[in-house]
Amino acid sequence: MTAAEKLSAELGAELDEMSAKGTLKDLRVYESPQGPEVRLKGLGEVIVLSSNDYLGMADNPAVIEAGVEALKKYGAGTASVRFICGLFEPHIELERELADFLGTGSSLSYVSCWTANHAILDALSDKETHIFSDELNHASIIDAMKLARPGGKSIYPHSDMEALEAALIEHGDVKRKLVITDGVFSMEGDLAPLPRMVELCEEHEAVLIVDDSHGLGVMGETGRGTAEHFGLHGRVDIITGTLGKALGGAAGGFVAGSEELCRVLEQRSRPQLFSNGLPPTVAASSRQALIELREHPELVDRLRSNTAEYRRLLNEAGFEPIPGESAIVPVLVGETSRAIEISRKMLEDGVFVTGFGYPVVPEGTARIRSQISAAMEEWQLQKAVAAMTRAAAAVPD
Ligand SMILES: Cc1ncc(COP(=O)(O)O)c(C=O)c1O
Repeated sequence: MTAAEKLSAELGAELDEMSAKGTLKDLRVYESPQGPEVRLKGLGEVIVLSSNDYLGMADNPAVIEAGVEALKKYGAGTASVRFICGLFEPHIELERELADFLGTGSSLSYVSCWTANHAILDALSDKETHIFSDELNHASIIDAMKLARPGGKSIYPHSDMEALEAALIEHGDVKRKLVITDGVFSMEGDLAPLPRMVELCEEHEAVLIVDDSHGLGVMGETGRGTAEHFGLHGRVDIITGTLGKALGGAAGGFVAGSEELCRVLEQRSRPQLFSNGLPPTVAASSRQALIELREHPELVDRLRSNTAEYRRLLNEAGFEPIPGESAIVPVLVGETSRAIEISRKMLEDGVFVTGFGYPVVPEGTARIRSQISAAMEEWQLQKAVAAMTRAAAAVPD
């Protein structure tokens, strides 16, 4: 057996084990655009409760048209990293629009928020840097910290501001202190306690970085995010986020902060130096999504009322979702295999929602995580809750 054959045999055994445990993920194939209702290969029309298309922008005609126009004008891609071959007009327009929308001096795009988080922590860290991070921060932040190799790091218990304060005091004499948090936590749907975090950062001279991937377009009166929700628009030092959720859902991410920060990141953050720029078509459609959001703040209202209605229907059916104000509504169901089985049964009933289990969330806290969209209608919310009720009853705890 060659080394490659041996590797394949080992990996095959791993897959068999996942299958035996009931934790093997089934991947679905779309035959239509993303939206509240889609066509899945072999399954037909289903309601989707697991996309990040919070505002229905993935299938918004103006957003699609902007991408098509950019595709025709600028071609399929950049074919190079920005510092070698330059950037395209849609990059400049998107970055200006993002900075304006978020109330920061500047912004810089990346091919994903995963990359943006890596870029910023790596570029800002050295031996005299200490990073303070919530234990439930997104995997991209956790991995970025490993890559950044700062002088020290403190992982504080989820949203525990006393623990954060104690860590800031303990490391008070460190030259550069970076506090990083998700704005909306992706598995729980709850919000970072930003008012206290802003206070603590000001008091202890730390820089606050908020990854608002699930807050942008969702939180705040006008969808400007978790900072706006708390009346702190313009008070967060650095915001990172994705273009792959509420803003068209294609791909792409960004860092928004001061002019100096974005210029330095452009000069020396490794993904800027060694990886292609965002495709111009994606930059153009994401920018259009921002314009749509500015012009139609009622979309954010609609998302909020759809989410409240979904929670009401769930409560009426006897479920107790984790409380929260975002568009993420998780219902705990116990073991991973139960979550997967419930989601399988819901799909048979025409509702597509993913069950999350270990290692994405701790053992025993597997969940059906629904994500609501402004584009959903009442009957879709009702059908989703009815399917969850039937599936949960059919799969014993
Ligand atoms: C909080 C958070 N940060 C970063 C990311 C990564 O975003 P992207 O898909 O743009 O890499 C996600 C995606 O799930 C996320 O939820």
